[in-house]
Amino acid sequence: MRIAILTSEAVPFVKTGGLADVSGALPKALGEHETDARLILPLYDQIDRRLLNDKIIENVSVEWRGRVHAVRFLCSDAAGAPAYFVHAPEFFARPNIYGCQDDHIRFAFFSRAALALTKHLDWQPDVVHGNDWPCGFAVAELRARRRYDSFFQNTKTLFSLHNVGYQGLFDAGDLWWLGFGDAPERDDFMLERTASALKAGMIAADALSTVSPRYAREIQTPQQGHGLDWLLRARSNRLIGITNGVDYEIWNPETDPHIAANFSADDLSGKRECKIDLLRRFSLPEESDRPILAIISRLVGQKGYDLIQLVAEPILRTGAFFIALGAGAKEYEDFLQRLHDVAPQQVGIYKGYAGEPLAHQIEAGADMFLMPSRYEPCGLNQMYSMRYGTVPVVRATGGLDDTVQQFDPRTGTGTGFKFGPYEAGALLEKLREALYFYARPDDWPKIQRNGMTVDNSWAAAAKKYLELYQELAKL
Ligand code: ADP
Ligand code: GLC
Repeated sequence: MRIAILTSEAVPFVKTGGLADVSGALPKALGEHETDARLILPLYDQIDRRLLNDKIIENVSVEWRGRVHAVRFLCSDAAGAPAYFVHAPEFFARPNIYGCQDDHIRFAFFSRAALALTKHLDWQPDVVHGNDWPCGFAVAELRARRRYDSFFQNTKTLFSLHNVGYQGLFDAGDLWWLGFGDAPERDDFMLERTASALKAGMIAADALSTVSPRYAREIQTPQQGHGLDWLLRARSNRLIGITNGVDYEIWNPETDPHIAANFSADDLSGKRECKIDLLRRFSLPEESDRPILAIISRLVGQKGYDLIQLVAEPILRTGAFFIALGAGAKEYEDFLQRLHDVAPQQVGIYKGYAGEPLAHQIEAGADMFLMPSRYEPCGLNQMYSMRYGTVPVVRATGGLDDTVQQFDPRTGTGTGFKFGPYEAGALLEKLREALYFYARPDDWPKIQRNGMTVDNSWAAAAKKYLELYQELAKL
């Protein structure tokens, strides 16, 4: 089974969020099943060239704006599966990987070049698996190509929705020269009066997946469908929710090279050392009995920062340390800065994208991990937290609801604390509940161990993807 996984980010090459973790882990996990899964990505400036191998593929013919371009691809084995990178500096040598005015053009080119590569290699994919709006172009193009290009006649498409809030919107006037100006492709893209790469992928794909079962249901409602719920309801028989896994080769406190001391569910003593180390890193007093509340996230509306802002003062009054790592909207970065300035002995902040080590150190050293998301397709940090004995306090939405089980002191079961309504009061109440149990030495280690022993490995998810690919291949 040949699977071409197209993605705009993947660990260990380039990452802004969970999509990279997932794209890096899935092909490796599929490798256990004797599939031939290969990754295709843009070659951004941000990718460390030392991860590439010596292989260069020259002269891949890519038709673009009426001309045939000879495009070069570079290669790597660092993801544990073959990875190919489209070398097009005009599009990908930029200070940021997203957020350019011509993103739709950049990723349309990427999509076209990725398909051209499979042809150049004479490697006929059974499934092209596109992820999020940047790959919507490839999914749309593939359906069109099947009409006239025999190479792709038996290739099916899976389009994975990691976040329906990002729709790849652009001026519909550009559809002409991107090659999607005629019906039916043009209509597939149209969302009111703009074009959406996400919508086109949703319509064109042979199957759709999202990253948790609850999110798969939520996006079919007007409240969570970001204006596309009608389409997802219409395609619900082709939509499946597969919960992301955790790559325990990377996120494992027993072997993690980034943390001050390794520890496990059987012996948590190293976690105390990690806590001291974390306090030191943020120049906070080394009071290891005081709880540390942590958050790592992109600073965007999705992640619940407006709730945190509302309860920041009462959180500080609990006496807990608050450590935040985040990059994104200036409004939230300013808020974090103010919070730190008010209580420099209690609040530790890192504004910006920190890379892997600091994220691991926070997971290892914190006591509780906060995810009050407005919506959360899956969420990975709550699962990393559980493995590191860091108890998640989350809002019951999307994958957070599917993966965190509320602690029940009567039975001793549960892995964290969950609140329902998107309200500051509900968040604060849950946080107080978690702090109450933190102070009870009979309960807290139980909650930690419950989380640490949950198996969220990729094996189960990879098997579901494989079954889906096999079903598609039979269509
Ligand atoms: P999302 O994909 O919506 O950002 P996830 O929980 O799925 O949310 O994944 C977020 C990933 O990005 C995690 O691996 C997290 O550790 C990482 N991350 C987020 N923000 C930062 C940051 N500022 N610095 C380092 N890692 C970050
Ligand atoms: C998205 C979602 C996040 C999910 C990640 C990987 O960025 O916001 O919830 O975990 O993709 O699927």
